[in-house]
Amino acid sequence: RGLLRTQLRGEQVIVVSNREPYIHAKTDDGIVVKRPASGLVAAVEPVMRACSGTWIAHGSGSADRDVVDANDRVGVPPGHAEYTLRRIWLSAEEEQGYYYGFANEGMWPLCHVAHVRPVFRESDWEQYKAVNQRFADAVVAEARSEDPVVLVQDYHFALLPAMVRARLPRATILTFWHIPWPNPESFSICPWRKEILEGMLGSTILGFHTRYHCKNFIETVDRFLEARIEHEHSMITFNDDETLVESYPISIEWPSDAERASWAPAPECRRRVFDRLGLAADTVLAVGVDRFDYTKGILERLHAVERLLEKHPEWIGRFVLVQIAAPTRDLLEEYQLFQQRIARTTERVNERFGRPGYKPILLFAQHHDHDALTEMYRAADVCVVTSLHDGMNLVCKEFVSVRDDEQGVLVLSRFAGAAREMTEALIVNPYHVEETADALHRAAIMPPAEQRERIASLRMTVRENNVFRWAGHMLADAGRSRLRQRIDERV
Ligand code: G6P
Repeated sequence: RGLLRTQLRGEQVIVVSNREPYIHAKTDDGIVVKRPASGLVAAVEPVMRACSGTWIAHGSGSADRDVVDANDRVGVPPGHAEYTLRRIWLSAEEEQGYYYGFANEGMWPLCHVAHVRPVFRESDWEQYKAVNQRFADAVVAEARSEDPVVLVQDYHFALLPAMVRARLPRATILTFWHIPWPNPESFSICPWRKEILEGMLGSTILGFHTRYHCKNFIETVDRFLEARIEHEHSMITFNDDETLVESYPISIEWPSDAERASWAPAPECRRRVFDRLGLAADTVLAVGVDRFDYTKGILERLHAVERLLEKHPEWIGRFVLVQIAAPTRDLLEEYQLFQQRIARTTERVNERFGRPGYKPILLFAQHHDHDALTEMYRAADVCVVTSLHDGMNLVCKEFVSVRDDEQGVLVLSRFAGAAREMTEALIVNPYHVEETADALHRAAIMPPAEQRERIASLRMTVRENNVFRWAGHMLADAGRSRLRQRIDERV
């Protein structure tokens, strides 16, 4: 955190993302502040607290307008402000076309290649362009110099980097793509593929979680644009502008000593959770924590539990999966259908293997706050992450970070970016139900000594490669590029 401040030495940092870090909502008890379920927000927020600066995002809470000043700004975190949140208000048409439509029915399935067909509508594209322009205008309005550091987040803003570059040619624009990038064939179905690529190449640095996504992006540019590519340096030159394409695996803020001191001991967490859920003392408790999204492999996970109970009937009555699924994007039909499908499958498996006082799957389709999740992670024997495709996935990192008792087993999809670093997890192909069922069995019988060995190593990796290192690497690369720019300008 301190290092980041030194690196920035008073530079102005502006973050742009769709989702805001704090949502003010009206309730019967007055205005309450909520944190959204978003990997992006979880990762970027601690970085922003370290940098100060301004975060521009879509105001989405029912009381968001009540707490801002005349310039739509509010200091956050609430109560002890460390940076400024500047809210942008979107009309219903803008939100429908830009957010639900182009971003989440087009780009999201396009990039995840999740076997859900992307939908591309001309009207959504028009809104997407217009909203990108509105956010770009806000960046320009917020800039106090001609060369601020602008951190652009995710697939909602593919066009914004070039829009900002046109107005602030000397800005350092770091764009981070939090989701996967597909291969050129998959990407080619997007009717506006050239515009998207040209927009992104307005960035000084374009970051993905893994080398694999960088490679896919560079190949896509190679296929569809007249650009010069220096493969050795991962550098793309387009319209005389250079973009460095680099991998920066995102992470979490490692829990502070103060936070750790606030946790109940793991056995106490276990007792509380078991009491609350009415679980028998000898239950093996597995947890899944996701947004309720079809990319997360929740259905495959339920099938794996079913297969486990078929293959190993000794677990009937003793193995429980608690699935927490935070509702998300639920105006979209694809998400509604998915929720129904999961509810039906849960019911079916519970009918098949349930007994009085026992259900193998407990589904909670609700948002849980940070403290509730910490307690759940600390109570569990197994954490199951079976994404069909995921840029990184932070649930697995959060799970190991709170297990200071060095117990618990992580089952992790090979298609989550995190699998590249978290090699001591039990790695599975979530499409292979048999393999996942076997991994659940293996996790359930894993001796404490082996659990300790694996999780201690995973904890070391995440502690070391924390979110400040993610931001630090990107900013260090940005610093080098600013230096080069100054040298070039002198020549
Ligand atoms: C993913 C995306 C984020 C997004 C989050 C939550 O992590 O990469 O950009 O904020 O999902 O989705 P939502 O649509 O609720 O913001």
